[in-house]
Amino acid sequence: MKLMYGPPLFHLLLYFASHTLGVRIESVPAVNSDGLIQMELEQSVSLVCQPEGVLETDEELVWLRNGAAVSLKEGNTKGRSQVCVTPVISGDNEATFTCHLRKNATISASVTLNVTYPPQLSGSQEISIEEEETLVLGCDIWANPQVSSLSWMLNGSTVDLLEGVFTVTNDGFTSQLSTNRVEKNLHEGTYQCIAHSSMYGRYDQVFYVTVTERTIKFPLMPLIAGLVVVFLTTLLAVASRWKNIRKCCK
Ligand SMILES: *[C@@H]1O[C@H](CO)[C@@H](O)[C@H](O)[C@H]1NC(C)=O
Ligand SMILES: *[C@@H]1O[C@H](CO)[C@@H](O)[C@H](O)[C@H]1NC(C)=O
Ligand SMILES: *[C@@H]1O[C@H](CO)[C@@H](O)[C@H](O)[C@H]1NC(C)=O
Repeated sequence: MKLMYGPPLFHLLLYFASHTLGVRIESVPAVNSDGLIQMELEQSVSLVCQPEGVLETDEELVWLRNGAAVSLKEGNTKGRSQVCVTPVISGDNEATFTCHLRKNATISASVTLNVTYPPQLSGSQEISIEEEETLVLGCDIWANPQVSSLSWMLNGSTVDLLEGVFTVTNDGFTSQLSTNRVEKNLHEGTYQCIAHSSMYGRYDQVFYVTVTERTIKFPLMPLIAGLVVVFLTTLLAVASRWKNIRKCCK
C-alpha cells in the first residue's frame, strides 16, 4: 500500500466560529449505503476529511488506518486533509480509515474499504515425486468474496475422499490435497483444483504429477534405524529358527 497526501486547497477562507459539529469524509469512489467503499485490486481511493457545520479552518485533523495514526505531510492536516491509497492491495480489504479532530477524538467519521479480488489460481506446474513419498498439493483460495466452492480433480474426475486415498484440508487460505505413500498407478496423473467465485467465476490451477521409481538413499538416521530393525528381525528369526531346529532335533 502506498499512501499519498494531497495539498490542502481551501486555506484562504476565514471563519469565526467557535466550535465544530462534526467531520465529514468524502471519498472517490463513493461510500455505499453500508458505509463501505467498493473496490477492486489496482484501483485507487481518495479520502478527503473536512470539519462540518460551523467551520474552523485551522481545525487540526488526524487520520487513522485501523486505529494506527497515518503520518500526514505538513499542510495536509488543517481544515482539510486528504489520504490516497494507490493502488489498493488485498491487505487493504476491511481497512477502516477514521478522521477525527486532534483536539477531540470523539468528533470523527470512518469509512471501510471492501476490496474484492479473485482467488490466486492460474497456470500449471510439473511435479515429480518418488514412490512412497508424501504428495501435497496446495491451492491459494483466499478471495473476497470467499469462493463458493472448491473441488479437486484427478484425470478429470472428482477426487474420491471416501476411499481414504486422499485427504483435503482447508484453512480458508489454502486448500491442500495430500496422500501418503505415493504409488505410480494410483497417483500419477493430472490434478486440478477448481474454485468458483460468485463474483469472478471459475478459477483453476493444474499440477502434472509424475511418480518415479524409488531411488535408494542412505540418510543416516533411517539407515541406523533400519540396521537395528534388521538386527532385531535376525535375532527373532534365529530365535524362532532355534525352536524349529530344536523341534526337529527332538
Ligand atoms: C468532544 O466532543 C463531544 C461531542 O461534541 C463533546 O460532548 C465533548 O465534551 C468534547 N470533549 C472535549 C474534551 O472537548
Ligand atoms: C464486499 O463486496 C462483495 C461484492 O459485492 C460482497 O459480496 C461482500 O458481501 C462485501 N463485503 C461486505 C463485508 O459487505
Ligand atoms: C491419469 O492419466 C494418465 C494419462 O492417461 C495415466 O497414465 C494415469 O495412469 C492416470 N492416472 C490415474 C490415477 O488413473
